[in-house]
Amino acid sequence: MALTFTRHSLVVIVGALLLQFFFLAGLAPAAAAAGPTGQVTVFWGRNKDEGSLREACDTGLYTMVVMSFLKVQGARGGEYRLDLAGHPVGGIGGDVKHCQRKGVLVSLAIGGGAYSLPTNQSALDLFDHLWNTYLAGGGKGAVAAARPFGDAVLDGVDFFLDRATPAERYDVLATELTKRSKPPRRALHLTATTRCAFPDRGAARALATGAFERVHVRFYGGGGGDNCTVYWEDAWGRWTAAYPRSRIYFGLPAAPAAEQDGRSGYVYPKTLYYRYVPELQKAANYGGFMIWDRYSDKQSGYSVYVKNWA
Ligand SMILES: *[C@@H]1O[C@H](CO)[C@@H](O)[C@H](O)[C@H]1NC(C)=O
Ligand SMILES: *[C@@H]1O[C@H](CO)[C@@H](O)[C@H](O)[C@H]1NC(C)=O
Repeated sequence: MALTFTRHSLVVIVGALLLQFFFLAGLAPAAAAAGPTGQVTVFWGRNKDEGSLREACDTGLYTMVVMSFLKVQGARGGEYRLDLAGHPVGGIGGDVKHCQRKGVLVSLAIGGGAYSLPTNQSALDLFDHLWNTYLAGGGKGAVAAARPFGDAVLDGVDFFLDRATPAERYDVLATELTKRSKPPRRALHLTATTRCAFPDRGAARALATGAFERVHVRFYGGGGGDNCTVYWEDAWGRWTAAYPRSRIYFGLPAAPAAEQDGRSGYVYPKTLYYRYVPELQKAANYGGFMIWDRYSDKQSGYSVYVKNWA
């Protein structure tokens, strides 16, 4: 015991001295490559059998949970429906607060189903809905009563831009949300989830606002002839270079069955560790991993590995 302790202390001291040396020499290791960040984001809400939000946060595997989806559709926008695959909504507000107390961020993804945000007005309407129903808008009376998670205030909004078209006004929504998250207001974590083929034309207009703290790039389920799961290094290079002010997350399925269409994108843990992780973490704006989804992750335990390497 005593010997172990001494060795451990020695390692700590030598490590601290080395770090100090690097800093004094102006060689702070973070300058070029991001290295590990420890960030793992998971999508939750697509399968009732995945367990509760609270349970997901209690695993200690994730630093952010994105609930999915708030469906946004209708010919002129304006139709919103919270679809959490049958999870009882009643307890979620309490779970959100529980997660936040543990330091896990909780956000809500807009998307799913058919997309429709064709005009500026439809974007502003969606902003009002998000702000009053899920964010700090709160309000009283009928507005407050319409909040499915009560007075819990979510940490962010994810733009899940799977089938968005370039004409849609997600940029207007992003700009509006950004205006409301400046200090002293509470920070709002805006994220976008995109396809991996670069550029994603449906997402480009929104991303050009520079409003997104994080971009989750889905290196799976490409469909439409995307071959970026094979040429992932090329696609990763393009995404990280195109949005230097956003943290780019590498999106992976937690199991081979988690995605349905086209190329799997599933990466065996050993391959992830030896082949992907060193390459991804070279980018200065590497953010971490995004895992689709909690249900498959619970079956496969994939994030147990990912957490250690992220
Ligand atoms: C929509 O909003 C954008 C960005 O704020 C603005 O440039 C554009 O003129 C607006 N379009 C209409 C039709 O109001
Ligand atoms: C596949 O990806 C590579 C690298 O990004 C690209 O050069 C090539 O044109 C792509 N092929 C197809 C069929 O999309």
